[in-house]
Amino acid sequence: MDATHAAVHVQTRNSADYNTVSDINFEFVLSELLAAEICFTINEGRSGKTMDVIGISGSLRKESTNTKALNIALRFAREAGAAVRAVDLGQMAIPIYSEDIPAPPPDLLILQSVLLETDVILIASPEYNHSIPGGLKNVLDWLSVMDNPFDGKVTAIFGVSNGPFGTVRMQPQLRQVLANLGSIVLPKPQICIRNGNEAFTPSEELTDKNTENHLKTLVLKSLKLAEALKMPGIQI
Ligand SMILES: Cc1cc2nc3c(=O)[nH]c(=O)nc-3n(C[C@H](O)[C@H](O)[C@H](O)COP(=O)(O)O)c2cc1C
Repeated sequence: MDATHAAVHVQTRNSADYNTVSDINFEFVLSELLAAEICFTINEGRSGKTMDVIGISGSLRKESTNTKALNIALRFAREAGAAVRAVDLGQMAIPIYSEDIPAPPPDLLILQSVLLETDVILIASPEYNHSIPGGLKNVLDWLSVMDNPFDGKVTAIFGVSNGPFGTVRMQPQLRQVLANLGSIVLPKPQICIRNGNEAFTPSEELTDKNTENHLKTLVLKSLKLAEALKMPGIQI
């Protein structure tokens, strides 16, 4: 099983496989992915280093169209030679942020360390009430008061909604939050996938080839930029 499929496997697992939601250990989720991971070293003639990519879906539901789009993007990254992993925010125990909570919860520390190590972060997110879904925003708020892993990191965002606007109102807000976290957010292509319920084939491919090509371009650009930032002498 390759890493993308491992991610799909973990994210689509029945909740009945776990005793309770609080029993789900993010470390386990990640280690399972790591065990299945295939790493390549690519881009010979360039930095020659394997690029690490982490995917985050802003939707926690099992049949999420954003998670489907994310899995396609992760597959493009893997085909380009990157080592890819997906984190499932729905499996993590993260309270709503409060300054009164004395320390970040363990799952968040694991997420932080994984994000600190990666080269590229891909975020696929729905739009809730014309804005960023609360669960995703909560995670970003938590990370912003820690050793923030987005600082100086390449991030690519895209989204699927089940309406005619395809997350076009949410994405500038997410871009603004990530900019405040110091992330280098790819400016283009901007990918807003509308009518999400009709946007995927039964085998979870995008029905529109143009959109698929744009998504691939976004992923490849993010890898190229992250690789350029790894070159000797480059410091941001
Ligand atoms: C709380 C809530 C708010 C929503 N607000 C919007 C919205 O502002 N704009 C929109 O296009 N769709 C909105 N939707 C519909 C989502 O686009 C739709 O549920 C989408 O499939 C969610 O993405 P997912 O398939 O990845 O879960 C909302 C859905 C929920 C649950």
